[in-house]
Amino acid sequence: MLSWDEFDKDEGEEAAKGTTATQAAAAGIDKLDNAGGVAALEARAVTAADSDAVKRAKAALDQLDIAEGLAELEGSAARVAVDEKRMINCRADLNQLVPFKYDWAWQKYLDGCANHWMPQEVNMTADIALWKNPEGLTDDERRIVMRNLGFFSTADSLVANNLALAVYRLITNPECRQYILRQAFEEAIHTHAYQYCIESLGMDEGEIFNMYHEIPSVAKKAAWGLSYTRAISDPEFNTGTVETDKELLRNLIAYYCVLEGIFFYCGFTQILSMGRRNKMTGVAEQFQYILRDESMHLNFGIDVINQIKIENPHLWDAEMKEEASQMILQGTQLEIEYARDTMPRGVLGMNAAMMEDYLKFIANRRLSQIGLKEEYPGTTNPFPWMSEIMDLKKEKNFFETRVIEYQTGGALSWD
Ligand SMILES: [Fe+2]
Ligand SMILES: [Fe+2]
Repeated sequence: MLSWDEFDKDEGEEAAKGTTATQAAAAGIDKLDNAGGVAALEARAVTAADSDAVKRAKAALDQLDIAEGLAELEGSAARVAVDEKRMINCRADLNQLVPFKYDWAWQKYLDGCANHWMPQEVNMTADIALWKNPEGLTDDERRIVMRNLGFFSTADSLVANNLALAVYRLITNPECRQYILRQAFEEAIHTHAYQYCIESLGMDEGEIFNMYHEIPSVAKKAAWGLSYTRAISDPEFNTGTVETDKELLRNLIAYYCVLEGIFFYCGFTQILSMGRRNKMTGVAEQFQYILRDESMHLNFGIDVINQIKIENPHLWDAEMKEEASQMILQGTQLEIEYARDTMPRGVLGMNAAMMEDYLKFIANRRLSQIGLKEEYPGTTNPFPWMSEIMDLKKEKNFFETRVIEYQTGGALSWD
């Protein structure tokens, strides 16, 4: 076994030891519990059994600058106190998950995990038979299925990209980031679910996935969302000024309140209405799971927006309120146009006028959820069954048809 004396005899290794001590002092890590330090350094010693590759790896680690590495970590090096935690522009260490400040964010993370599901768990056999039967669905019903798969198959990617490439970096709170990671995975599952429906039904994948370039009512919604992610997904973008903090707030309102909070609702209602009439029940079941995930995403986003407002009241001035209200009204208008385009005639016991009422009802909710005045007074909900579906708990037969055991290494077979 090597002793420190032997270790010091070697010129290169002596230098490495000196560097390590200097680095420790520079990084303020001399307070580290270093009881195992000698044993750790012994493991670094080159032995006769080491190949050249292993020797090079050990030598490279001798050059590792601990101080530089620690300096790159976000936030200060001290233990985190709950009062230091902030939704944006936080200076506390972001790698220390606890103590929690926003228990609601952690709870949503736990709830999301508890409701995990996968698209292959849903039986698509009846849908395939119905879709392939020329008499199975009317043209209007087929249009609804196609348009919605077209919109949703790319919309969830837009949401996921916005989360991973922009929002995650700028929300400076670890328990919220934990939920954002869960949400990002759920968005991937949603895109997977649409792909799974498209593949099961034997649709033209290119036509569906490119619909957001080809169909104006789909393209307008995607373009509206993208216009709010352009600035903040620039890697050079940072919060910390009133203008950039407001830019992030606009993005959160665009994505959580409008994209996930309004743009999804016409399509969800149409597909779920189809399922209630015993048509396309597999697609409807996928949408049911997705809707429940989405209502949690929406609630998380509302909580984040309201917490940013509490911590930064100067951002929520008259100008910002007016802008936020306008964004929600624009989104509502685009969704009303989408309803007309997808439903030129009455279908499935619905028509575009009922959908318009529903969307105005939803818009009022979104406005009041972030503390703004309702803009469509007297609107009522023509589809109360939608709220029931959103509120369904796992215990209450929501997962009645799910396969309990996860199968790895391949898709489930429904033959
Ligand atoms: Fe989604
Ligand atoms: Fe979502």
